Amino acid sequence: MNSTTARETPNRRALIVGASRGLGEAVVEEYVSRGALVVGTARAAASTPLHRFAATRADAVDVEELDVTVPVGLEPLRERLQGRRFDLLFVVAGISLAAREAIGADIDDEDFQRMMLTNVLGVMRAVEALDELVEQDGTIAVMSSGQGSIAGNTGGGFEVYRATKAALNQMFRSYAARHGGERRSLLLLAPGWVRTELGGGGAPLRIEDSIPLLVDTIDAQHGTPGVQYLDRHGRTVAW
Ligand SMILES: NC(=O)c1ccc[n+]([C@@H]2O[C@H](COP(=O)([O-])OP(=O)(O)OC[C@H]3O[C@@H](n4cnc5c(N)ncnc54)[C@H](OP(=O)(O)O)[C@@H]3O)[C@@H](O)[C@H]2O)c1
Repeated sequence: MNSTTARETPNRRALIVGASRGLGEAVVEEYVSRGALVVGTARAAASTPLHRFAATRADAVDVEELDVTVPVGLEPLRERLQGRRFDLLFVVAGISLAAREAIGADIDDEDFQRMMLTNVLGVMRAVEALDELVEQDGTIAVMSSGQGSIAGNTGGGFEVYRATKAALNQMFRSYAARHGGERRSLLLLAPGWVRTELGGGGAPLRIEDSIPLLVDTIDAQHGTPGVQYLDRHGRTVAW
């Protein structure tokens, strides 16, 4: 998944959470192509695209296990990684269940809870548990979505998914407020609508249309403190 011209990265040590497949796995490949050492996490110990890629690049990739909805897994992961420091923590994990439904239609309670638990609480718990592994001038990023923009919601649709990403944005801003004055770059990222299992076959972008640009955007913000909500081109997304 590397860009046409191999680029160096300031994020030479990266921890990518939710990297078994799709966009997260592509972020791992992109960082490895830029010379980084990467730890990627997957929920399953079984073979995933991340495991298969790591087997070809054992010099650059370690795979760890983590389900962000199982908080008891966070502390052991932090302990396993205690001797390491990262320039970048990027939490990519996310789900979309019954995404096309509208509130008032037949949203299943369990689907609603599972989406909020994964996309909001799980992501933020991972940030809180793992942030001490990130260098003081490093970057903490989470995968939001353009659908998380309240200002940009003029068309509706994907109502629960949108709500989870808007809630994630709000929680991440609270995190940023609590860490005001620190030097880290804090990024909420919108990759565009991409063909993955979550994005579906009708999405206009291929993974390779999005991820190299998204990684360029992360790298360009290295050393810029404070919270930003950016698309893959590095443009600010309206809250
Ligand atoms: N594709 C798009 O158009 C698009 C647009 C905007 C934002 N996003 C966001 O980008 C992120 C990745 O999406 P994707 O398109 O790559 O979807 P995907 O192909 O369905 O991959 C989702 C990833 O999240 C992981 N995950 C799900 N639940 C998890 C949990 N409880 N703990 C840890 N990992 C978990 C999955 O792991 P398993 O393999 O174990 O299920 C998988 O690696 C999501 O946050 C999504 O909301 C996607």
